[in-house]
Amino acid sequence: MSFTVAIDGPAAAGKGTIARAVAAHFGFAHLDTGLLYRATGAKALDTGAVDATSAEQAARALSEEDLARDDLRTGDAGQAASVVAAIPAVRAALLDWQRAFARRAGGAVLDGRDIGTVVCPEAEVKLYVTASDDERAKRRHAELVKARAELTVAEVLSDLQARDRRDASRDTAPMKPAADAHLFDTTTLSIEAAVARAIALIEQARAAH
Ligand code: DC
Repeated sequence: MSFTVAIDGPAAAGKGTIARAVAAHFGFAHLDTGLLYRATGAKALDTGAVDATSAEQAARALSEEDLARDDLRTGDAGQAASVVAAIPAVRAALLDWQRAFARRAGGAVLDGRDIGTVVCPEAEVKLYVTASDDERAKRRHAELVKARAELTVAEVLSDLQARDRRDASRDTAPMKPAADAHLFDTTTLSIEAAVARAIALIEQARAAH
């Protein structure tokens, strides 16, 4: 029987960490859907120009190899991801695959921006994870500064805010909480506490399923 957990929210709010922990706890499969958009953006960038045509072709031809690239976690790949993610044909090309993943037997956790609203509106549990801009910028900076020592928190903050604006304001599948999502603010809630709360919610939903 399938069971889907949808986790959405802006960049660096903690949704990936919560998704991985929940998936490990329940033995569910986990899909970081941001990786699909990052790989699409990177593949389109390889062709020279990121436009609607190159991005749609990249999304349609996405392979396991593209998802395993080392450069998908960089700031550039994140920005390219956010640009291609605003193109409706790209989102359409990635939809069926995400839905099939969500419905696999044994349970699935998907994290992204539109999982609870568009990809899996029937998900059994929906979480929307946020944190303050400053807190998210600090967290993302700590990750990225290992590879780019000169990077400042202010630069990371302005990149995050630009990306959030684009993700929340696009016409197709904008980032927003589903009406029935549980809101988690991890500015004040530790990741451990957020994971414990998510596990409790999922256990409740499974008992009722
Ligand atoms: O979660 P992330 O930072 O890896 O996501 C990269 C970009 O992909 C993000 O700016 C928005 C886009 N995205 C999306 O539009 N829909 C999703 N379900 C996941 C990511």
